Amino acid sequence: MAVDTTTTRKAAAAKAPAPADKARRRSSVALKFLMAGTGILLVLFLFAHMIGNLKIFFGEETFDHYAHWLRTIGTPLLPDEWYLWIQRGGLTLAVVAHIYAATVLAIRARKARPVKYAHRPKVQGSYAARTMRWGGVIVLLFVIYHILDLTTLTLNPNGVHGEAYRNVAEDFAPGRWYVTLFYVVSIVAVGFHLRHGIWSAVRTLGQQTQRGERIARASALALSLVLVVGYLSVPFAVTIGLVD
Ligand code: HEM
Repeated sequence: MAVDTTTTRKAAAAKAPAPADKARRRSSVALKFLMAGTGILLVLFLFAHMIGNLKIFFGEETFDHYAHWLRTIGTPLLPDEWYLWIQRGGLTLAVVAHIYAATVLAIRARKARPVKYAHRPKVQGSYAARTMRWGGVIVLLFVIYHILDLTTLTLNPNGVHGEAYRNVAEDFAPGRWYVTLFYVVSIVAVGFHLRHGIWSAVRTLGQQTQRGERIARASALALSLVLVVGYLSVPFAVTIGLVD
C-alpha cells in the first residue's frame, strides 16, 4: 500500500515544536540550572555562616577571633580582606543571577497561560510558586537590613567595629525584642524558601523517581530545619541570657 508521505510529513511538522519554541524551552532549562546552581552556592554560604555564628556559644574571645579571621582569609597570598571582597562579589552575582532567572521564568510561565484563572486552582505548584516569590522578596529585604545592622553597623545604634560578639549581644537584648521578632520572621521565611528551593533544585538536577522525590522532600525539610534552628539559637540565647 502506498503511503502518502507528504501528508505524514505535514502532520509531523504540525506536531513538532517550532524552532523558536525549542530555543525558548532550551533557554528555560538553562535558566532553571542557573537557579539551582546559584541556589546551591547560597545554601553553602548559609551553612558556613551558621557554623560561624554558633561560635558565639564558645565565648566573646572565640567569636571575635573568628570575625577577625574572616578578614584575613587568604593572607599572606592576598592582602587583608581581599578574600572577603571576592566572596561578597561572588554572592552578589549569585543573588542577581538567581533573581534574574526566577523573574524571566515567572514571566514566561504567566505568558504561557492563555487566560487568567477566574479562581486560582488550589494546587500545590501555584501555592509554592507564590510563596517562593514573596518569600524571596522578604529574604532579600532581610539581607539588606542585616548587612546594615551587623556588617556596616549603619542601623545599629550600639555597634562597634571589631566587636562582633558585643554587637550581636546588644542587637538581640530583651529591650530590642522587635529586632529579634523581625529576625525570627525572616529566618522562618528563609526556611520556607529553602525547603521548596532545595527540593526544586534536586528536581532540576535530574531527580525523577517517586522514591527520590520522597528522599528529596525529607532532605529539603531536614536541611531547612537545621538552618532555622541553628540561626534562631543565637537570638534566643541572647534573649534568655545564655549569651550576654
Ligand atoms: C540570627 C541569625 C544571624 C546572626 C546572629 C548573624 C550574624 C552576622 C554577623 C555578626 C555578621 C557580620 C560579620 C562581620 O562583619 O564580622 C553577619 C554578616 C552577614 N550575614 Fe548574618 N547572621 C544571621 C543570619 C543571617 C542570614 C539568615 C543570612 C542570609 C539569609 C545572613 C547573611 C549575612 C551576610 C550576607 C552577611 C555579610 C557578610 C559579609 O560581610 O560579607 N545572616 N551576620
